[in-house]
Amino acid sequence: MTITIKSAADDLEGMRVAGRLASEVLDMLTPHVKPGVTTEQLDKLAHDHIVNVQGAVPAPLNYAPPGYTPYPKSICTSINHQVCHGIPNDRPLKNGDIVNIDVTVIKDGWHGDTSRMFVVGEGSIAAKRLCALTYEAMWKGIVKVKPGARLGDIGHSIQTFAESQGFSIVREFCGHGIGRKFHEEPQVLHYGRPGTLEELVPGMTFTIEPMVNAGRREIREMGDGWTIVTKDRSLSAQWEHTVLVTDTGYEVLTLSAGSPPPPAFVGV
Ligand code: MF3
Ligand code: CO
Ligand code: CO
Repeated sequence: MTITIKSAADDLEGMRVAGRLASEVLDMLTPHVKPGVTTEQLDKLAHDHIVNVQGAVPAPLNYAPPGYTPYPKSICTSINHQVCHGIPNDRPLKNGDIVNIDVTVIKDGWHGDTSRMFVVGEGSIAAKRLCALTYEAMWKGIVKVKPGARLGDIGHSIQTFAESQGFSIVREFCGHGIGRKFHEEPQVLHYGRPGTLEELVPGMTFTIEPMVNAGRREIREMGDGWTIVTKDRSLSAQWEHTVLVTDTGYEVLTLSAGSPPPPAFVGV
């Protein structure tokens, strides 16, 4: 169990480029996320952009962690009560759906991993509230990132905020170290107690990617071996950024022109 430290200028630059490219895939997809489009069409757009425009590799395609069948597509698309790892298919998105699109690219050996929520057409008040507050929950974690803080501080901040809004946090999936590998040490839990777990040091790179359910936190895996859904079929949302621990705080690596601005509580 080792946490890799990215401190060489080339390593940091590699992570910055990969992070920006992942975010730019979401920018490119944004105008296409409309009623009637299929998630398979979004997958093809993303795949072709990553390979042909960015000269990069879609990390999910054929990704096969121990115990999993190879993931068959280039992005993950998780709709409504799907929590994460939804597989693009030929069903059209419909008005009012919420969909998480999760993009991971590999550029020059470095990974960038980010996801956003999209409301298809006009969403319900409840759906929009879940998406907006899950975005805030992710940032409640990001702002805790600085040398000397601990992973438990991040998890606690996310959990207390989400639960204060009446939502629940999925426990079985977490953020992760990232670099030359897609998923590295450490695990970044989205719940926990302040002052616990690993101490953050400059050069760590990891994702923060809370999955927040409108109902109960329990989940279930579908028969495809990948798609995770809420057991009570309540709506679920997720946002993800890849961050770097700097000497004074954090740098978000997965930003681009189309990134939504941080919430007001994030100091500039
Ligand atoms: N991008 C996901 C994450 O944030 C992992 C997806 S694994 C896949 O960690 F194989 F489903 F793509
Ligand atoms: Co991730
Ligand atoms: Co991801």
